[in-house]
Formats: sequence, C-alpha cells, structure tokens
Amino acid sequence: MKKTLVAMFALVAFTGTAFAVDVIDMKKNVKFPHKKHVEMLKDCKKCHEKGPGKIADFGKDWAHKTCKGCHTTLKKGPTSCKDCHKQ
Ligand code: HEC
Ligand code: HEC
Ligand code: HEC
Repeated sequence: MKKTLVAMFALVAFTGTAFAVDVIDMKKNVKFPHKKHVEMLKDCKKCHEKGPGKIADFGKDWAHKTCKGCHTTLKKGPTSCKDCHKQ
C-alpha cells in the first residue's frame, strides 16, 4: 500500500512538471504557449516523437515545418511571420 502511494505521488510529480511548462520563450520573440497546446492537442507525440523533453532537431526548420505546418493544415493558429514573431 505504502509503495503504491509513493509510486502514485512520483507519477503525479512527474506529469506535474511536464504540464507545468507554461509558455516557452523562443528565438526572435516567439512565445510558445506549451500548456495550451498540451491541453488542446492532448498528444505529446505530435511534437515529441521520442518522448517529452528537449527536441533534438528543434530550431528554425523544425519549427517552420511542424508549427506552421499544423496551423496550416488545421486552419487554426498563426501562419504569418509577424503573428509568431511578435515585435
Ligand atoms: C505542439 C507541440 C508540442 C506538444 C503537443 C507538446 N510539446 Fe513539449 N515542447 C514542445 C517544444 C517545441 C519544446 C521545446 C523544445 C526544445 O527547446 O528543444 C517542448 C519542451 C518540452 C519539455 C522540456 C522543457 C524544458 O525546457 O526543459 C517538456 C518536459 C515537455 N515539452 C513535455 C511535454 C509533454 C509531457 C507533452 C504532452 C503532454 C508535450 N510536451 C506536448 C512542443 C510540444
Ligand atoms: C499538431 C498541431 C499544432 C502544432 C504542431 C503547433 N500548434 Fe500552435 N496551435 C495549434 C492550434 C489548433 C491552435 C489554435 C488555438 C485556438 O485557436 O484556440 C494553435 C495556436 C497557436 C498560437 C496562438 C495561441 C493563442 O493563444 O491564440 C501560437 C502562438 C502557436 N500556436 C504557436 C505554435 C508554435 C510556436 C508551435 C511550434 C513550436 C506550434 N504552435 C505548434 C496547433 C498546433
Ligand atoms: C508558426 C509560428 C511561426 C511562423 C508562422 C514563422 N516562424 Fe519563424 N520561427 C518560429 C519558431 C518557433 C522558430 C525557432 C525559434 C527557436 O529556435 O528558438 C523560428 C525561427 C525563425 C528564424 C531563426 C531565428 C534564429 O535566431 O535562429 C527566423 C530568421 C525566422 N523564424 C523567420 C521567419 C519568417 C521570415 C517567417 C515568415 C515567412 C516566419 N519565421 C514564420 C516560428 C514561426
């Protein structure tokens, strides 16, 4: 019983940390609302193919393909330079 409880707390603490990444500041004034995306997409694998955490090939090319790609496909979310790169 005690062990189960400890395991449960560990799990809550872990997912709690992951969900707690609220807004991530990126280069060129991009503010990425991570938590909002987690809540609406409910699928980490949409962006984290290899599990949560840093994304190995993250950068301009990844972002313009993945972020803009999804916004274009779903017709939701910013697709113009100035809407992602706030002044
Ligand atoms: C819409 C895309 C997207 C979704 C969906 C998403 N993430 Fe992320 N997440 C990112 C990006 C982009 C980063 C920043 C990656 C980097 O800097 O290498 C990130 C970073 C993280 C980090 C590391 C934060 C840090 O700075 O150390 C964690 C942990 C994480 N995500 C967990 C999750 C979990 C868990 C889920 C699912 C519940 C999830 N993410 C869903 C895009 C996403
Ligand atoms: C798999 C789909 C998907 C991916 C990948 C994705 N987004 Fe989004 N994003 C959405 C959707 C859907 C919305 C629309 C939310 C709404 O209209 O309420 C959105 C909205 C946004 C918004 C506007 C939020 C707001 O409060 O109005 C920003 C900024 C944004 N995305 C940035 C990014 C960035 C930066 C990345 C990549 C790191 C990214 N998105 C990746 C689906 C995605
Ligand atoms: C859907 C959001 C989105 C749109 C639309 C978008 N970008 Fe980006 N852009 C990003 C993200 C996210 C990064 C990566 C930031 C990082 O590496 O921290 C990025 C990176 C960049 C970089 C590299 C910055 C650096 O210092 O490495 C340049 C330059 C850039 N974008 C220009 C543009 C231009 C020009 C447009 C319009 C044609 C555009 N972006 C449209 C989200 C977007």
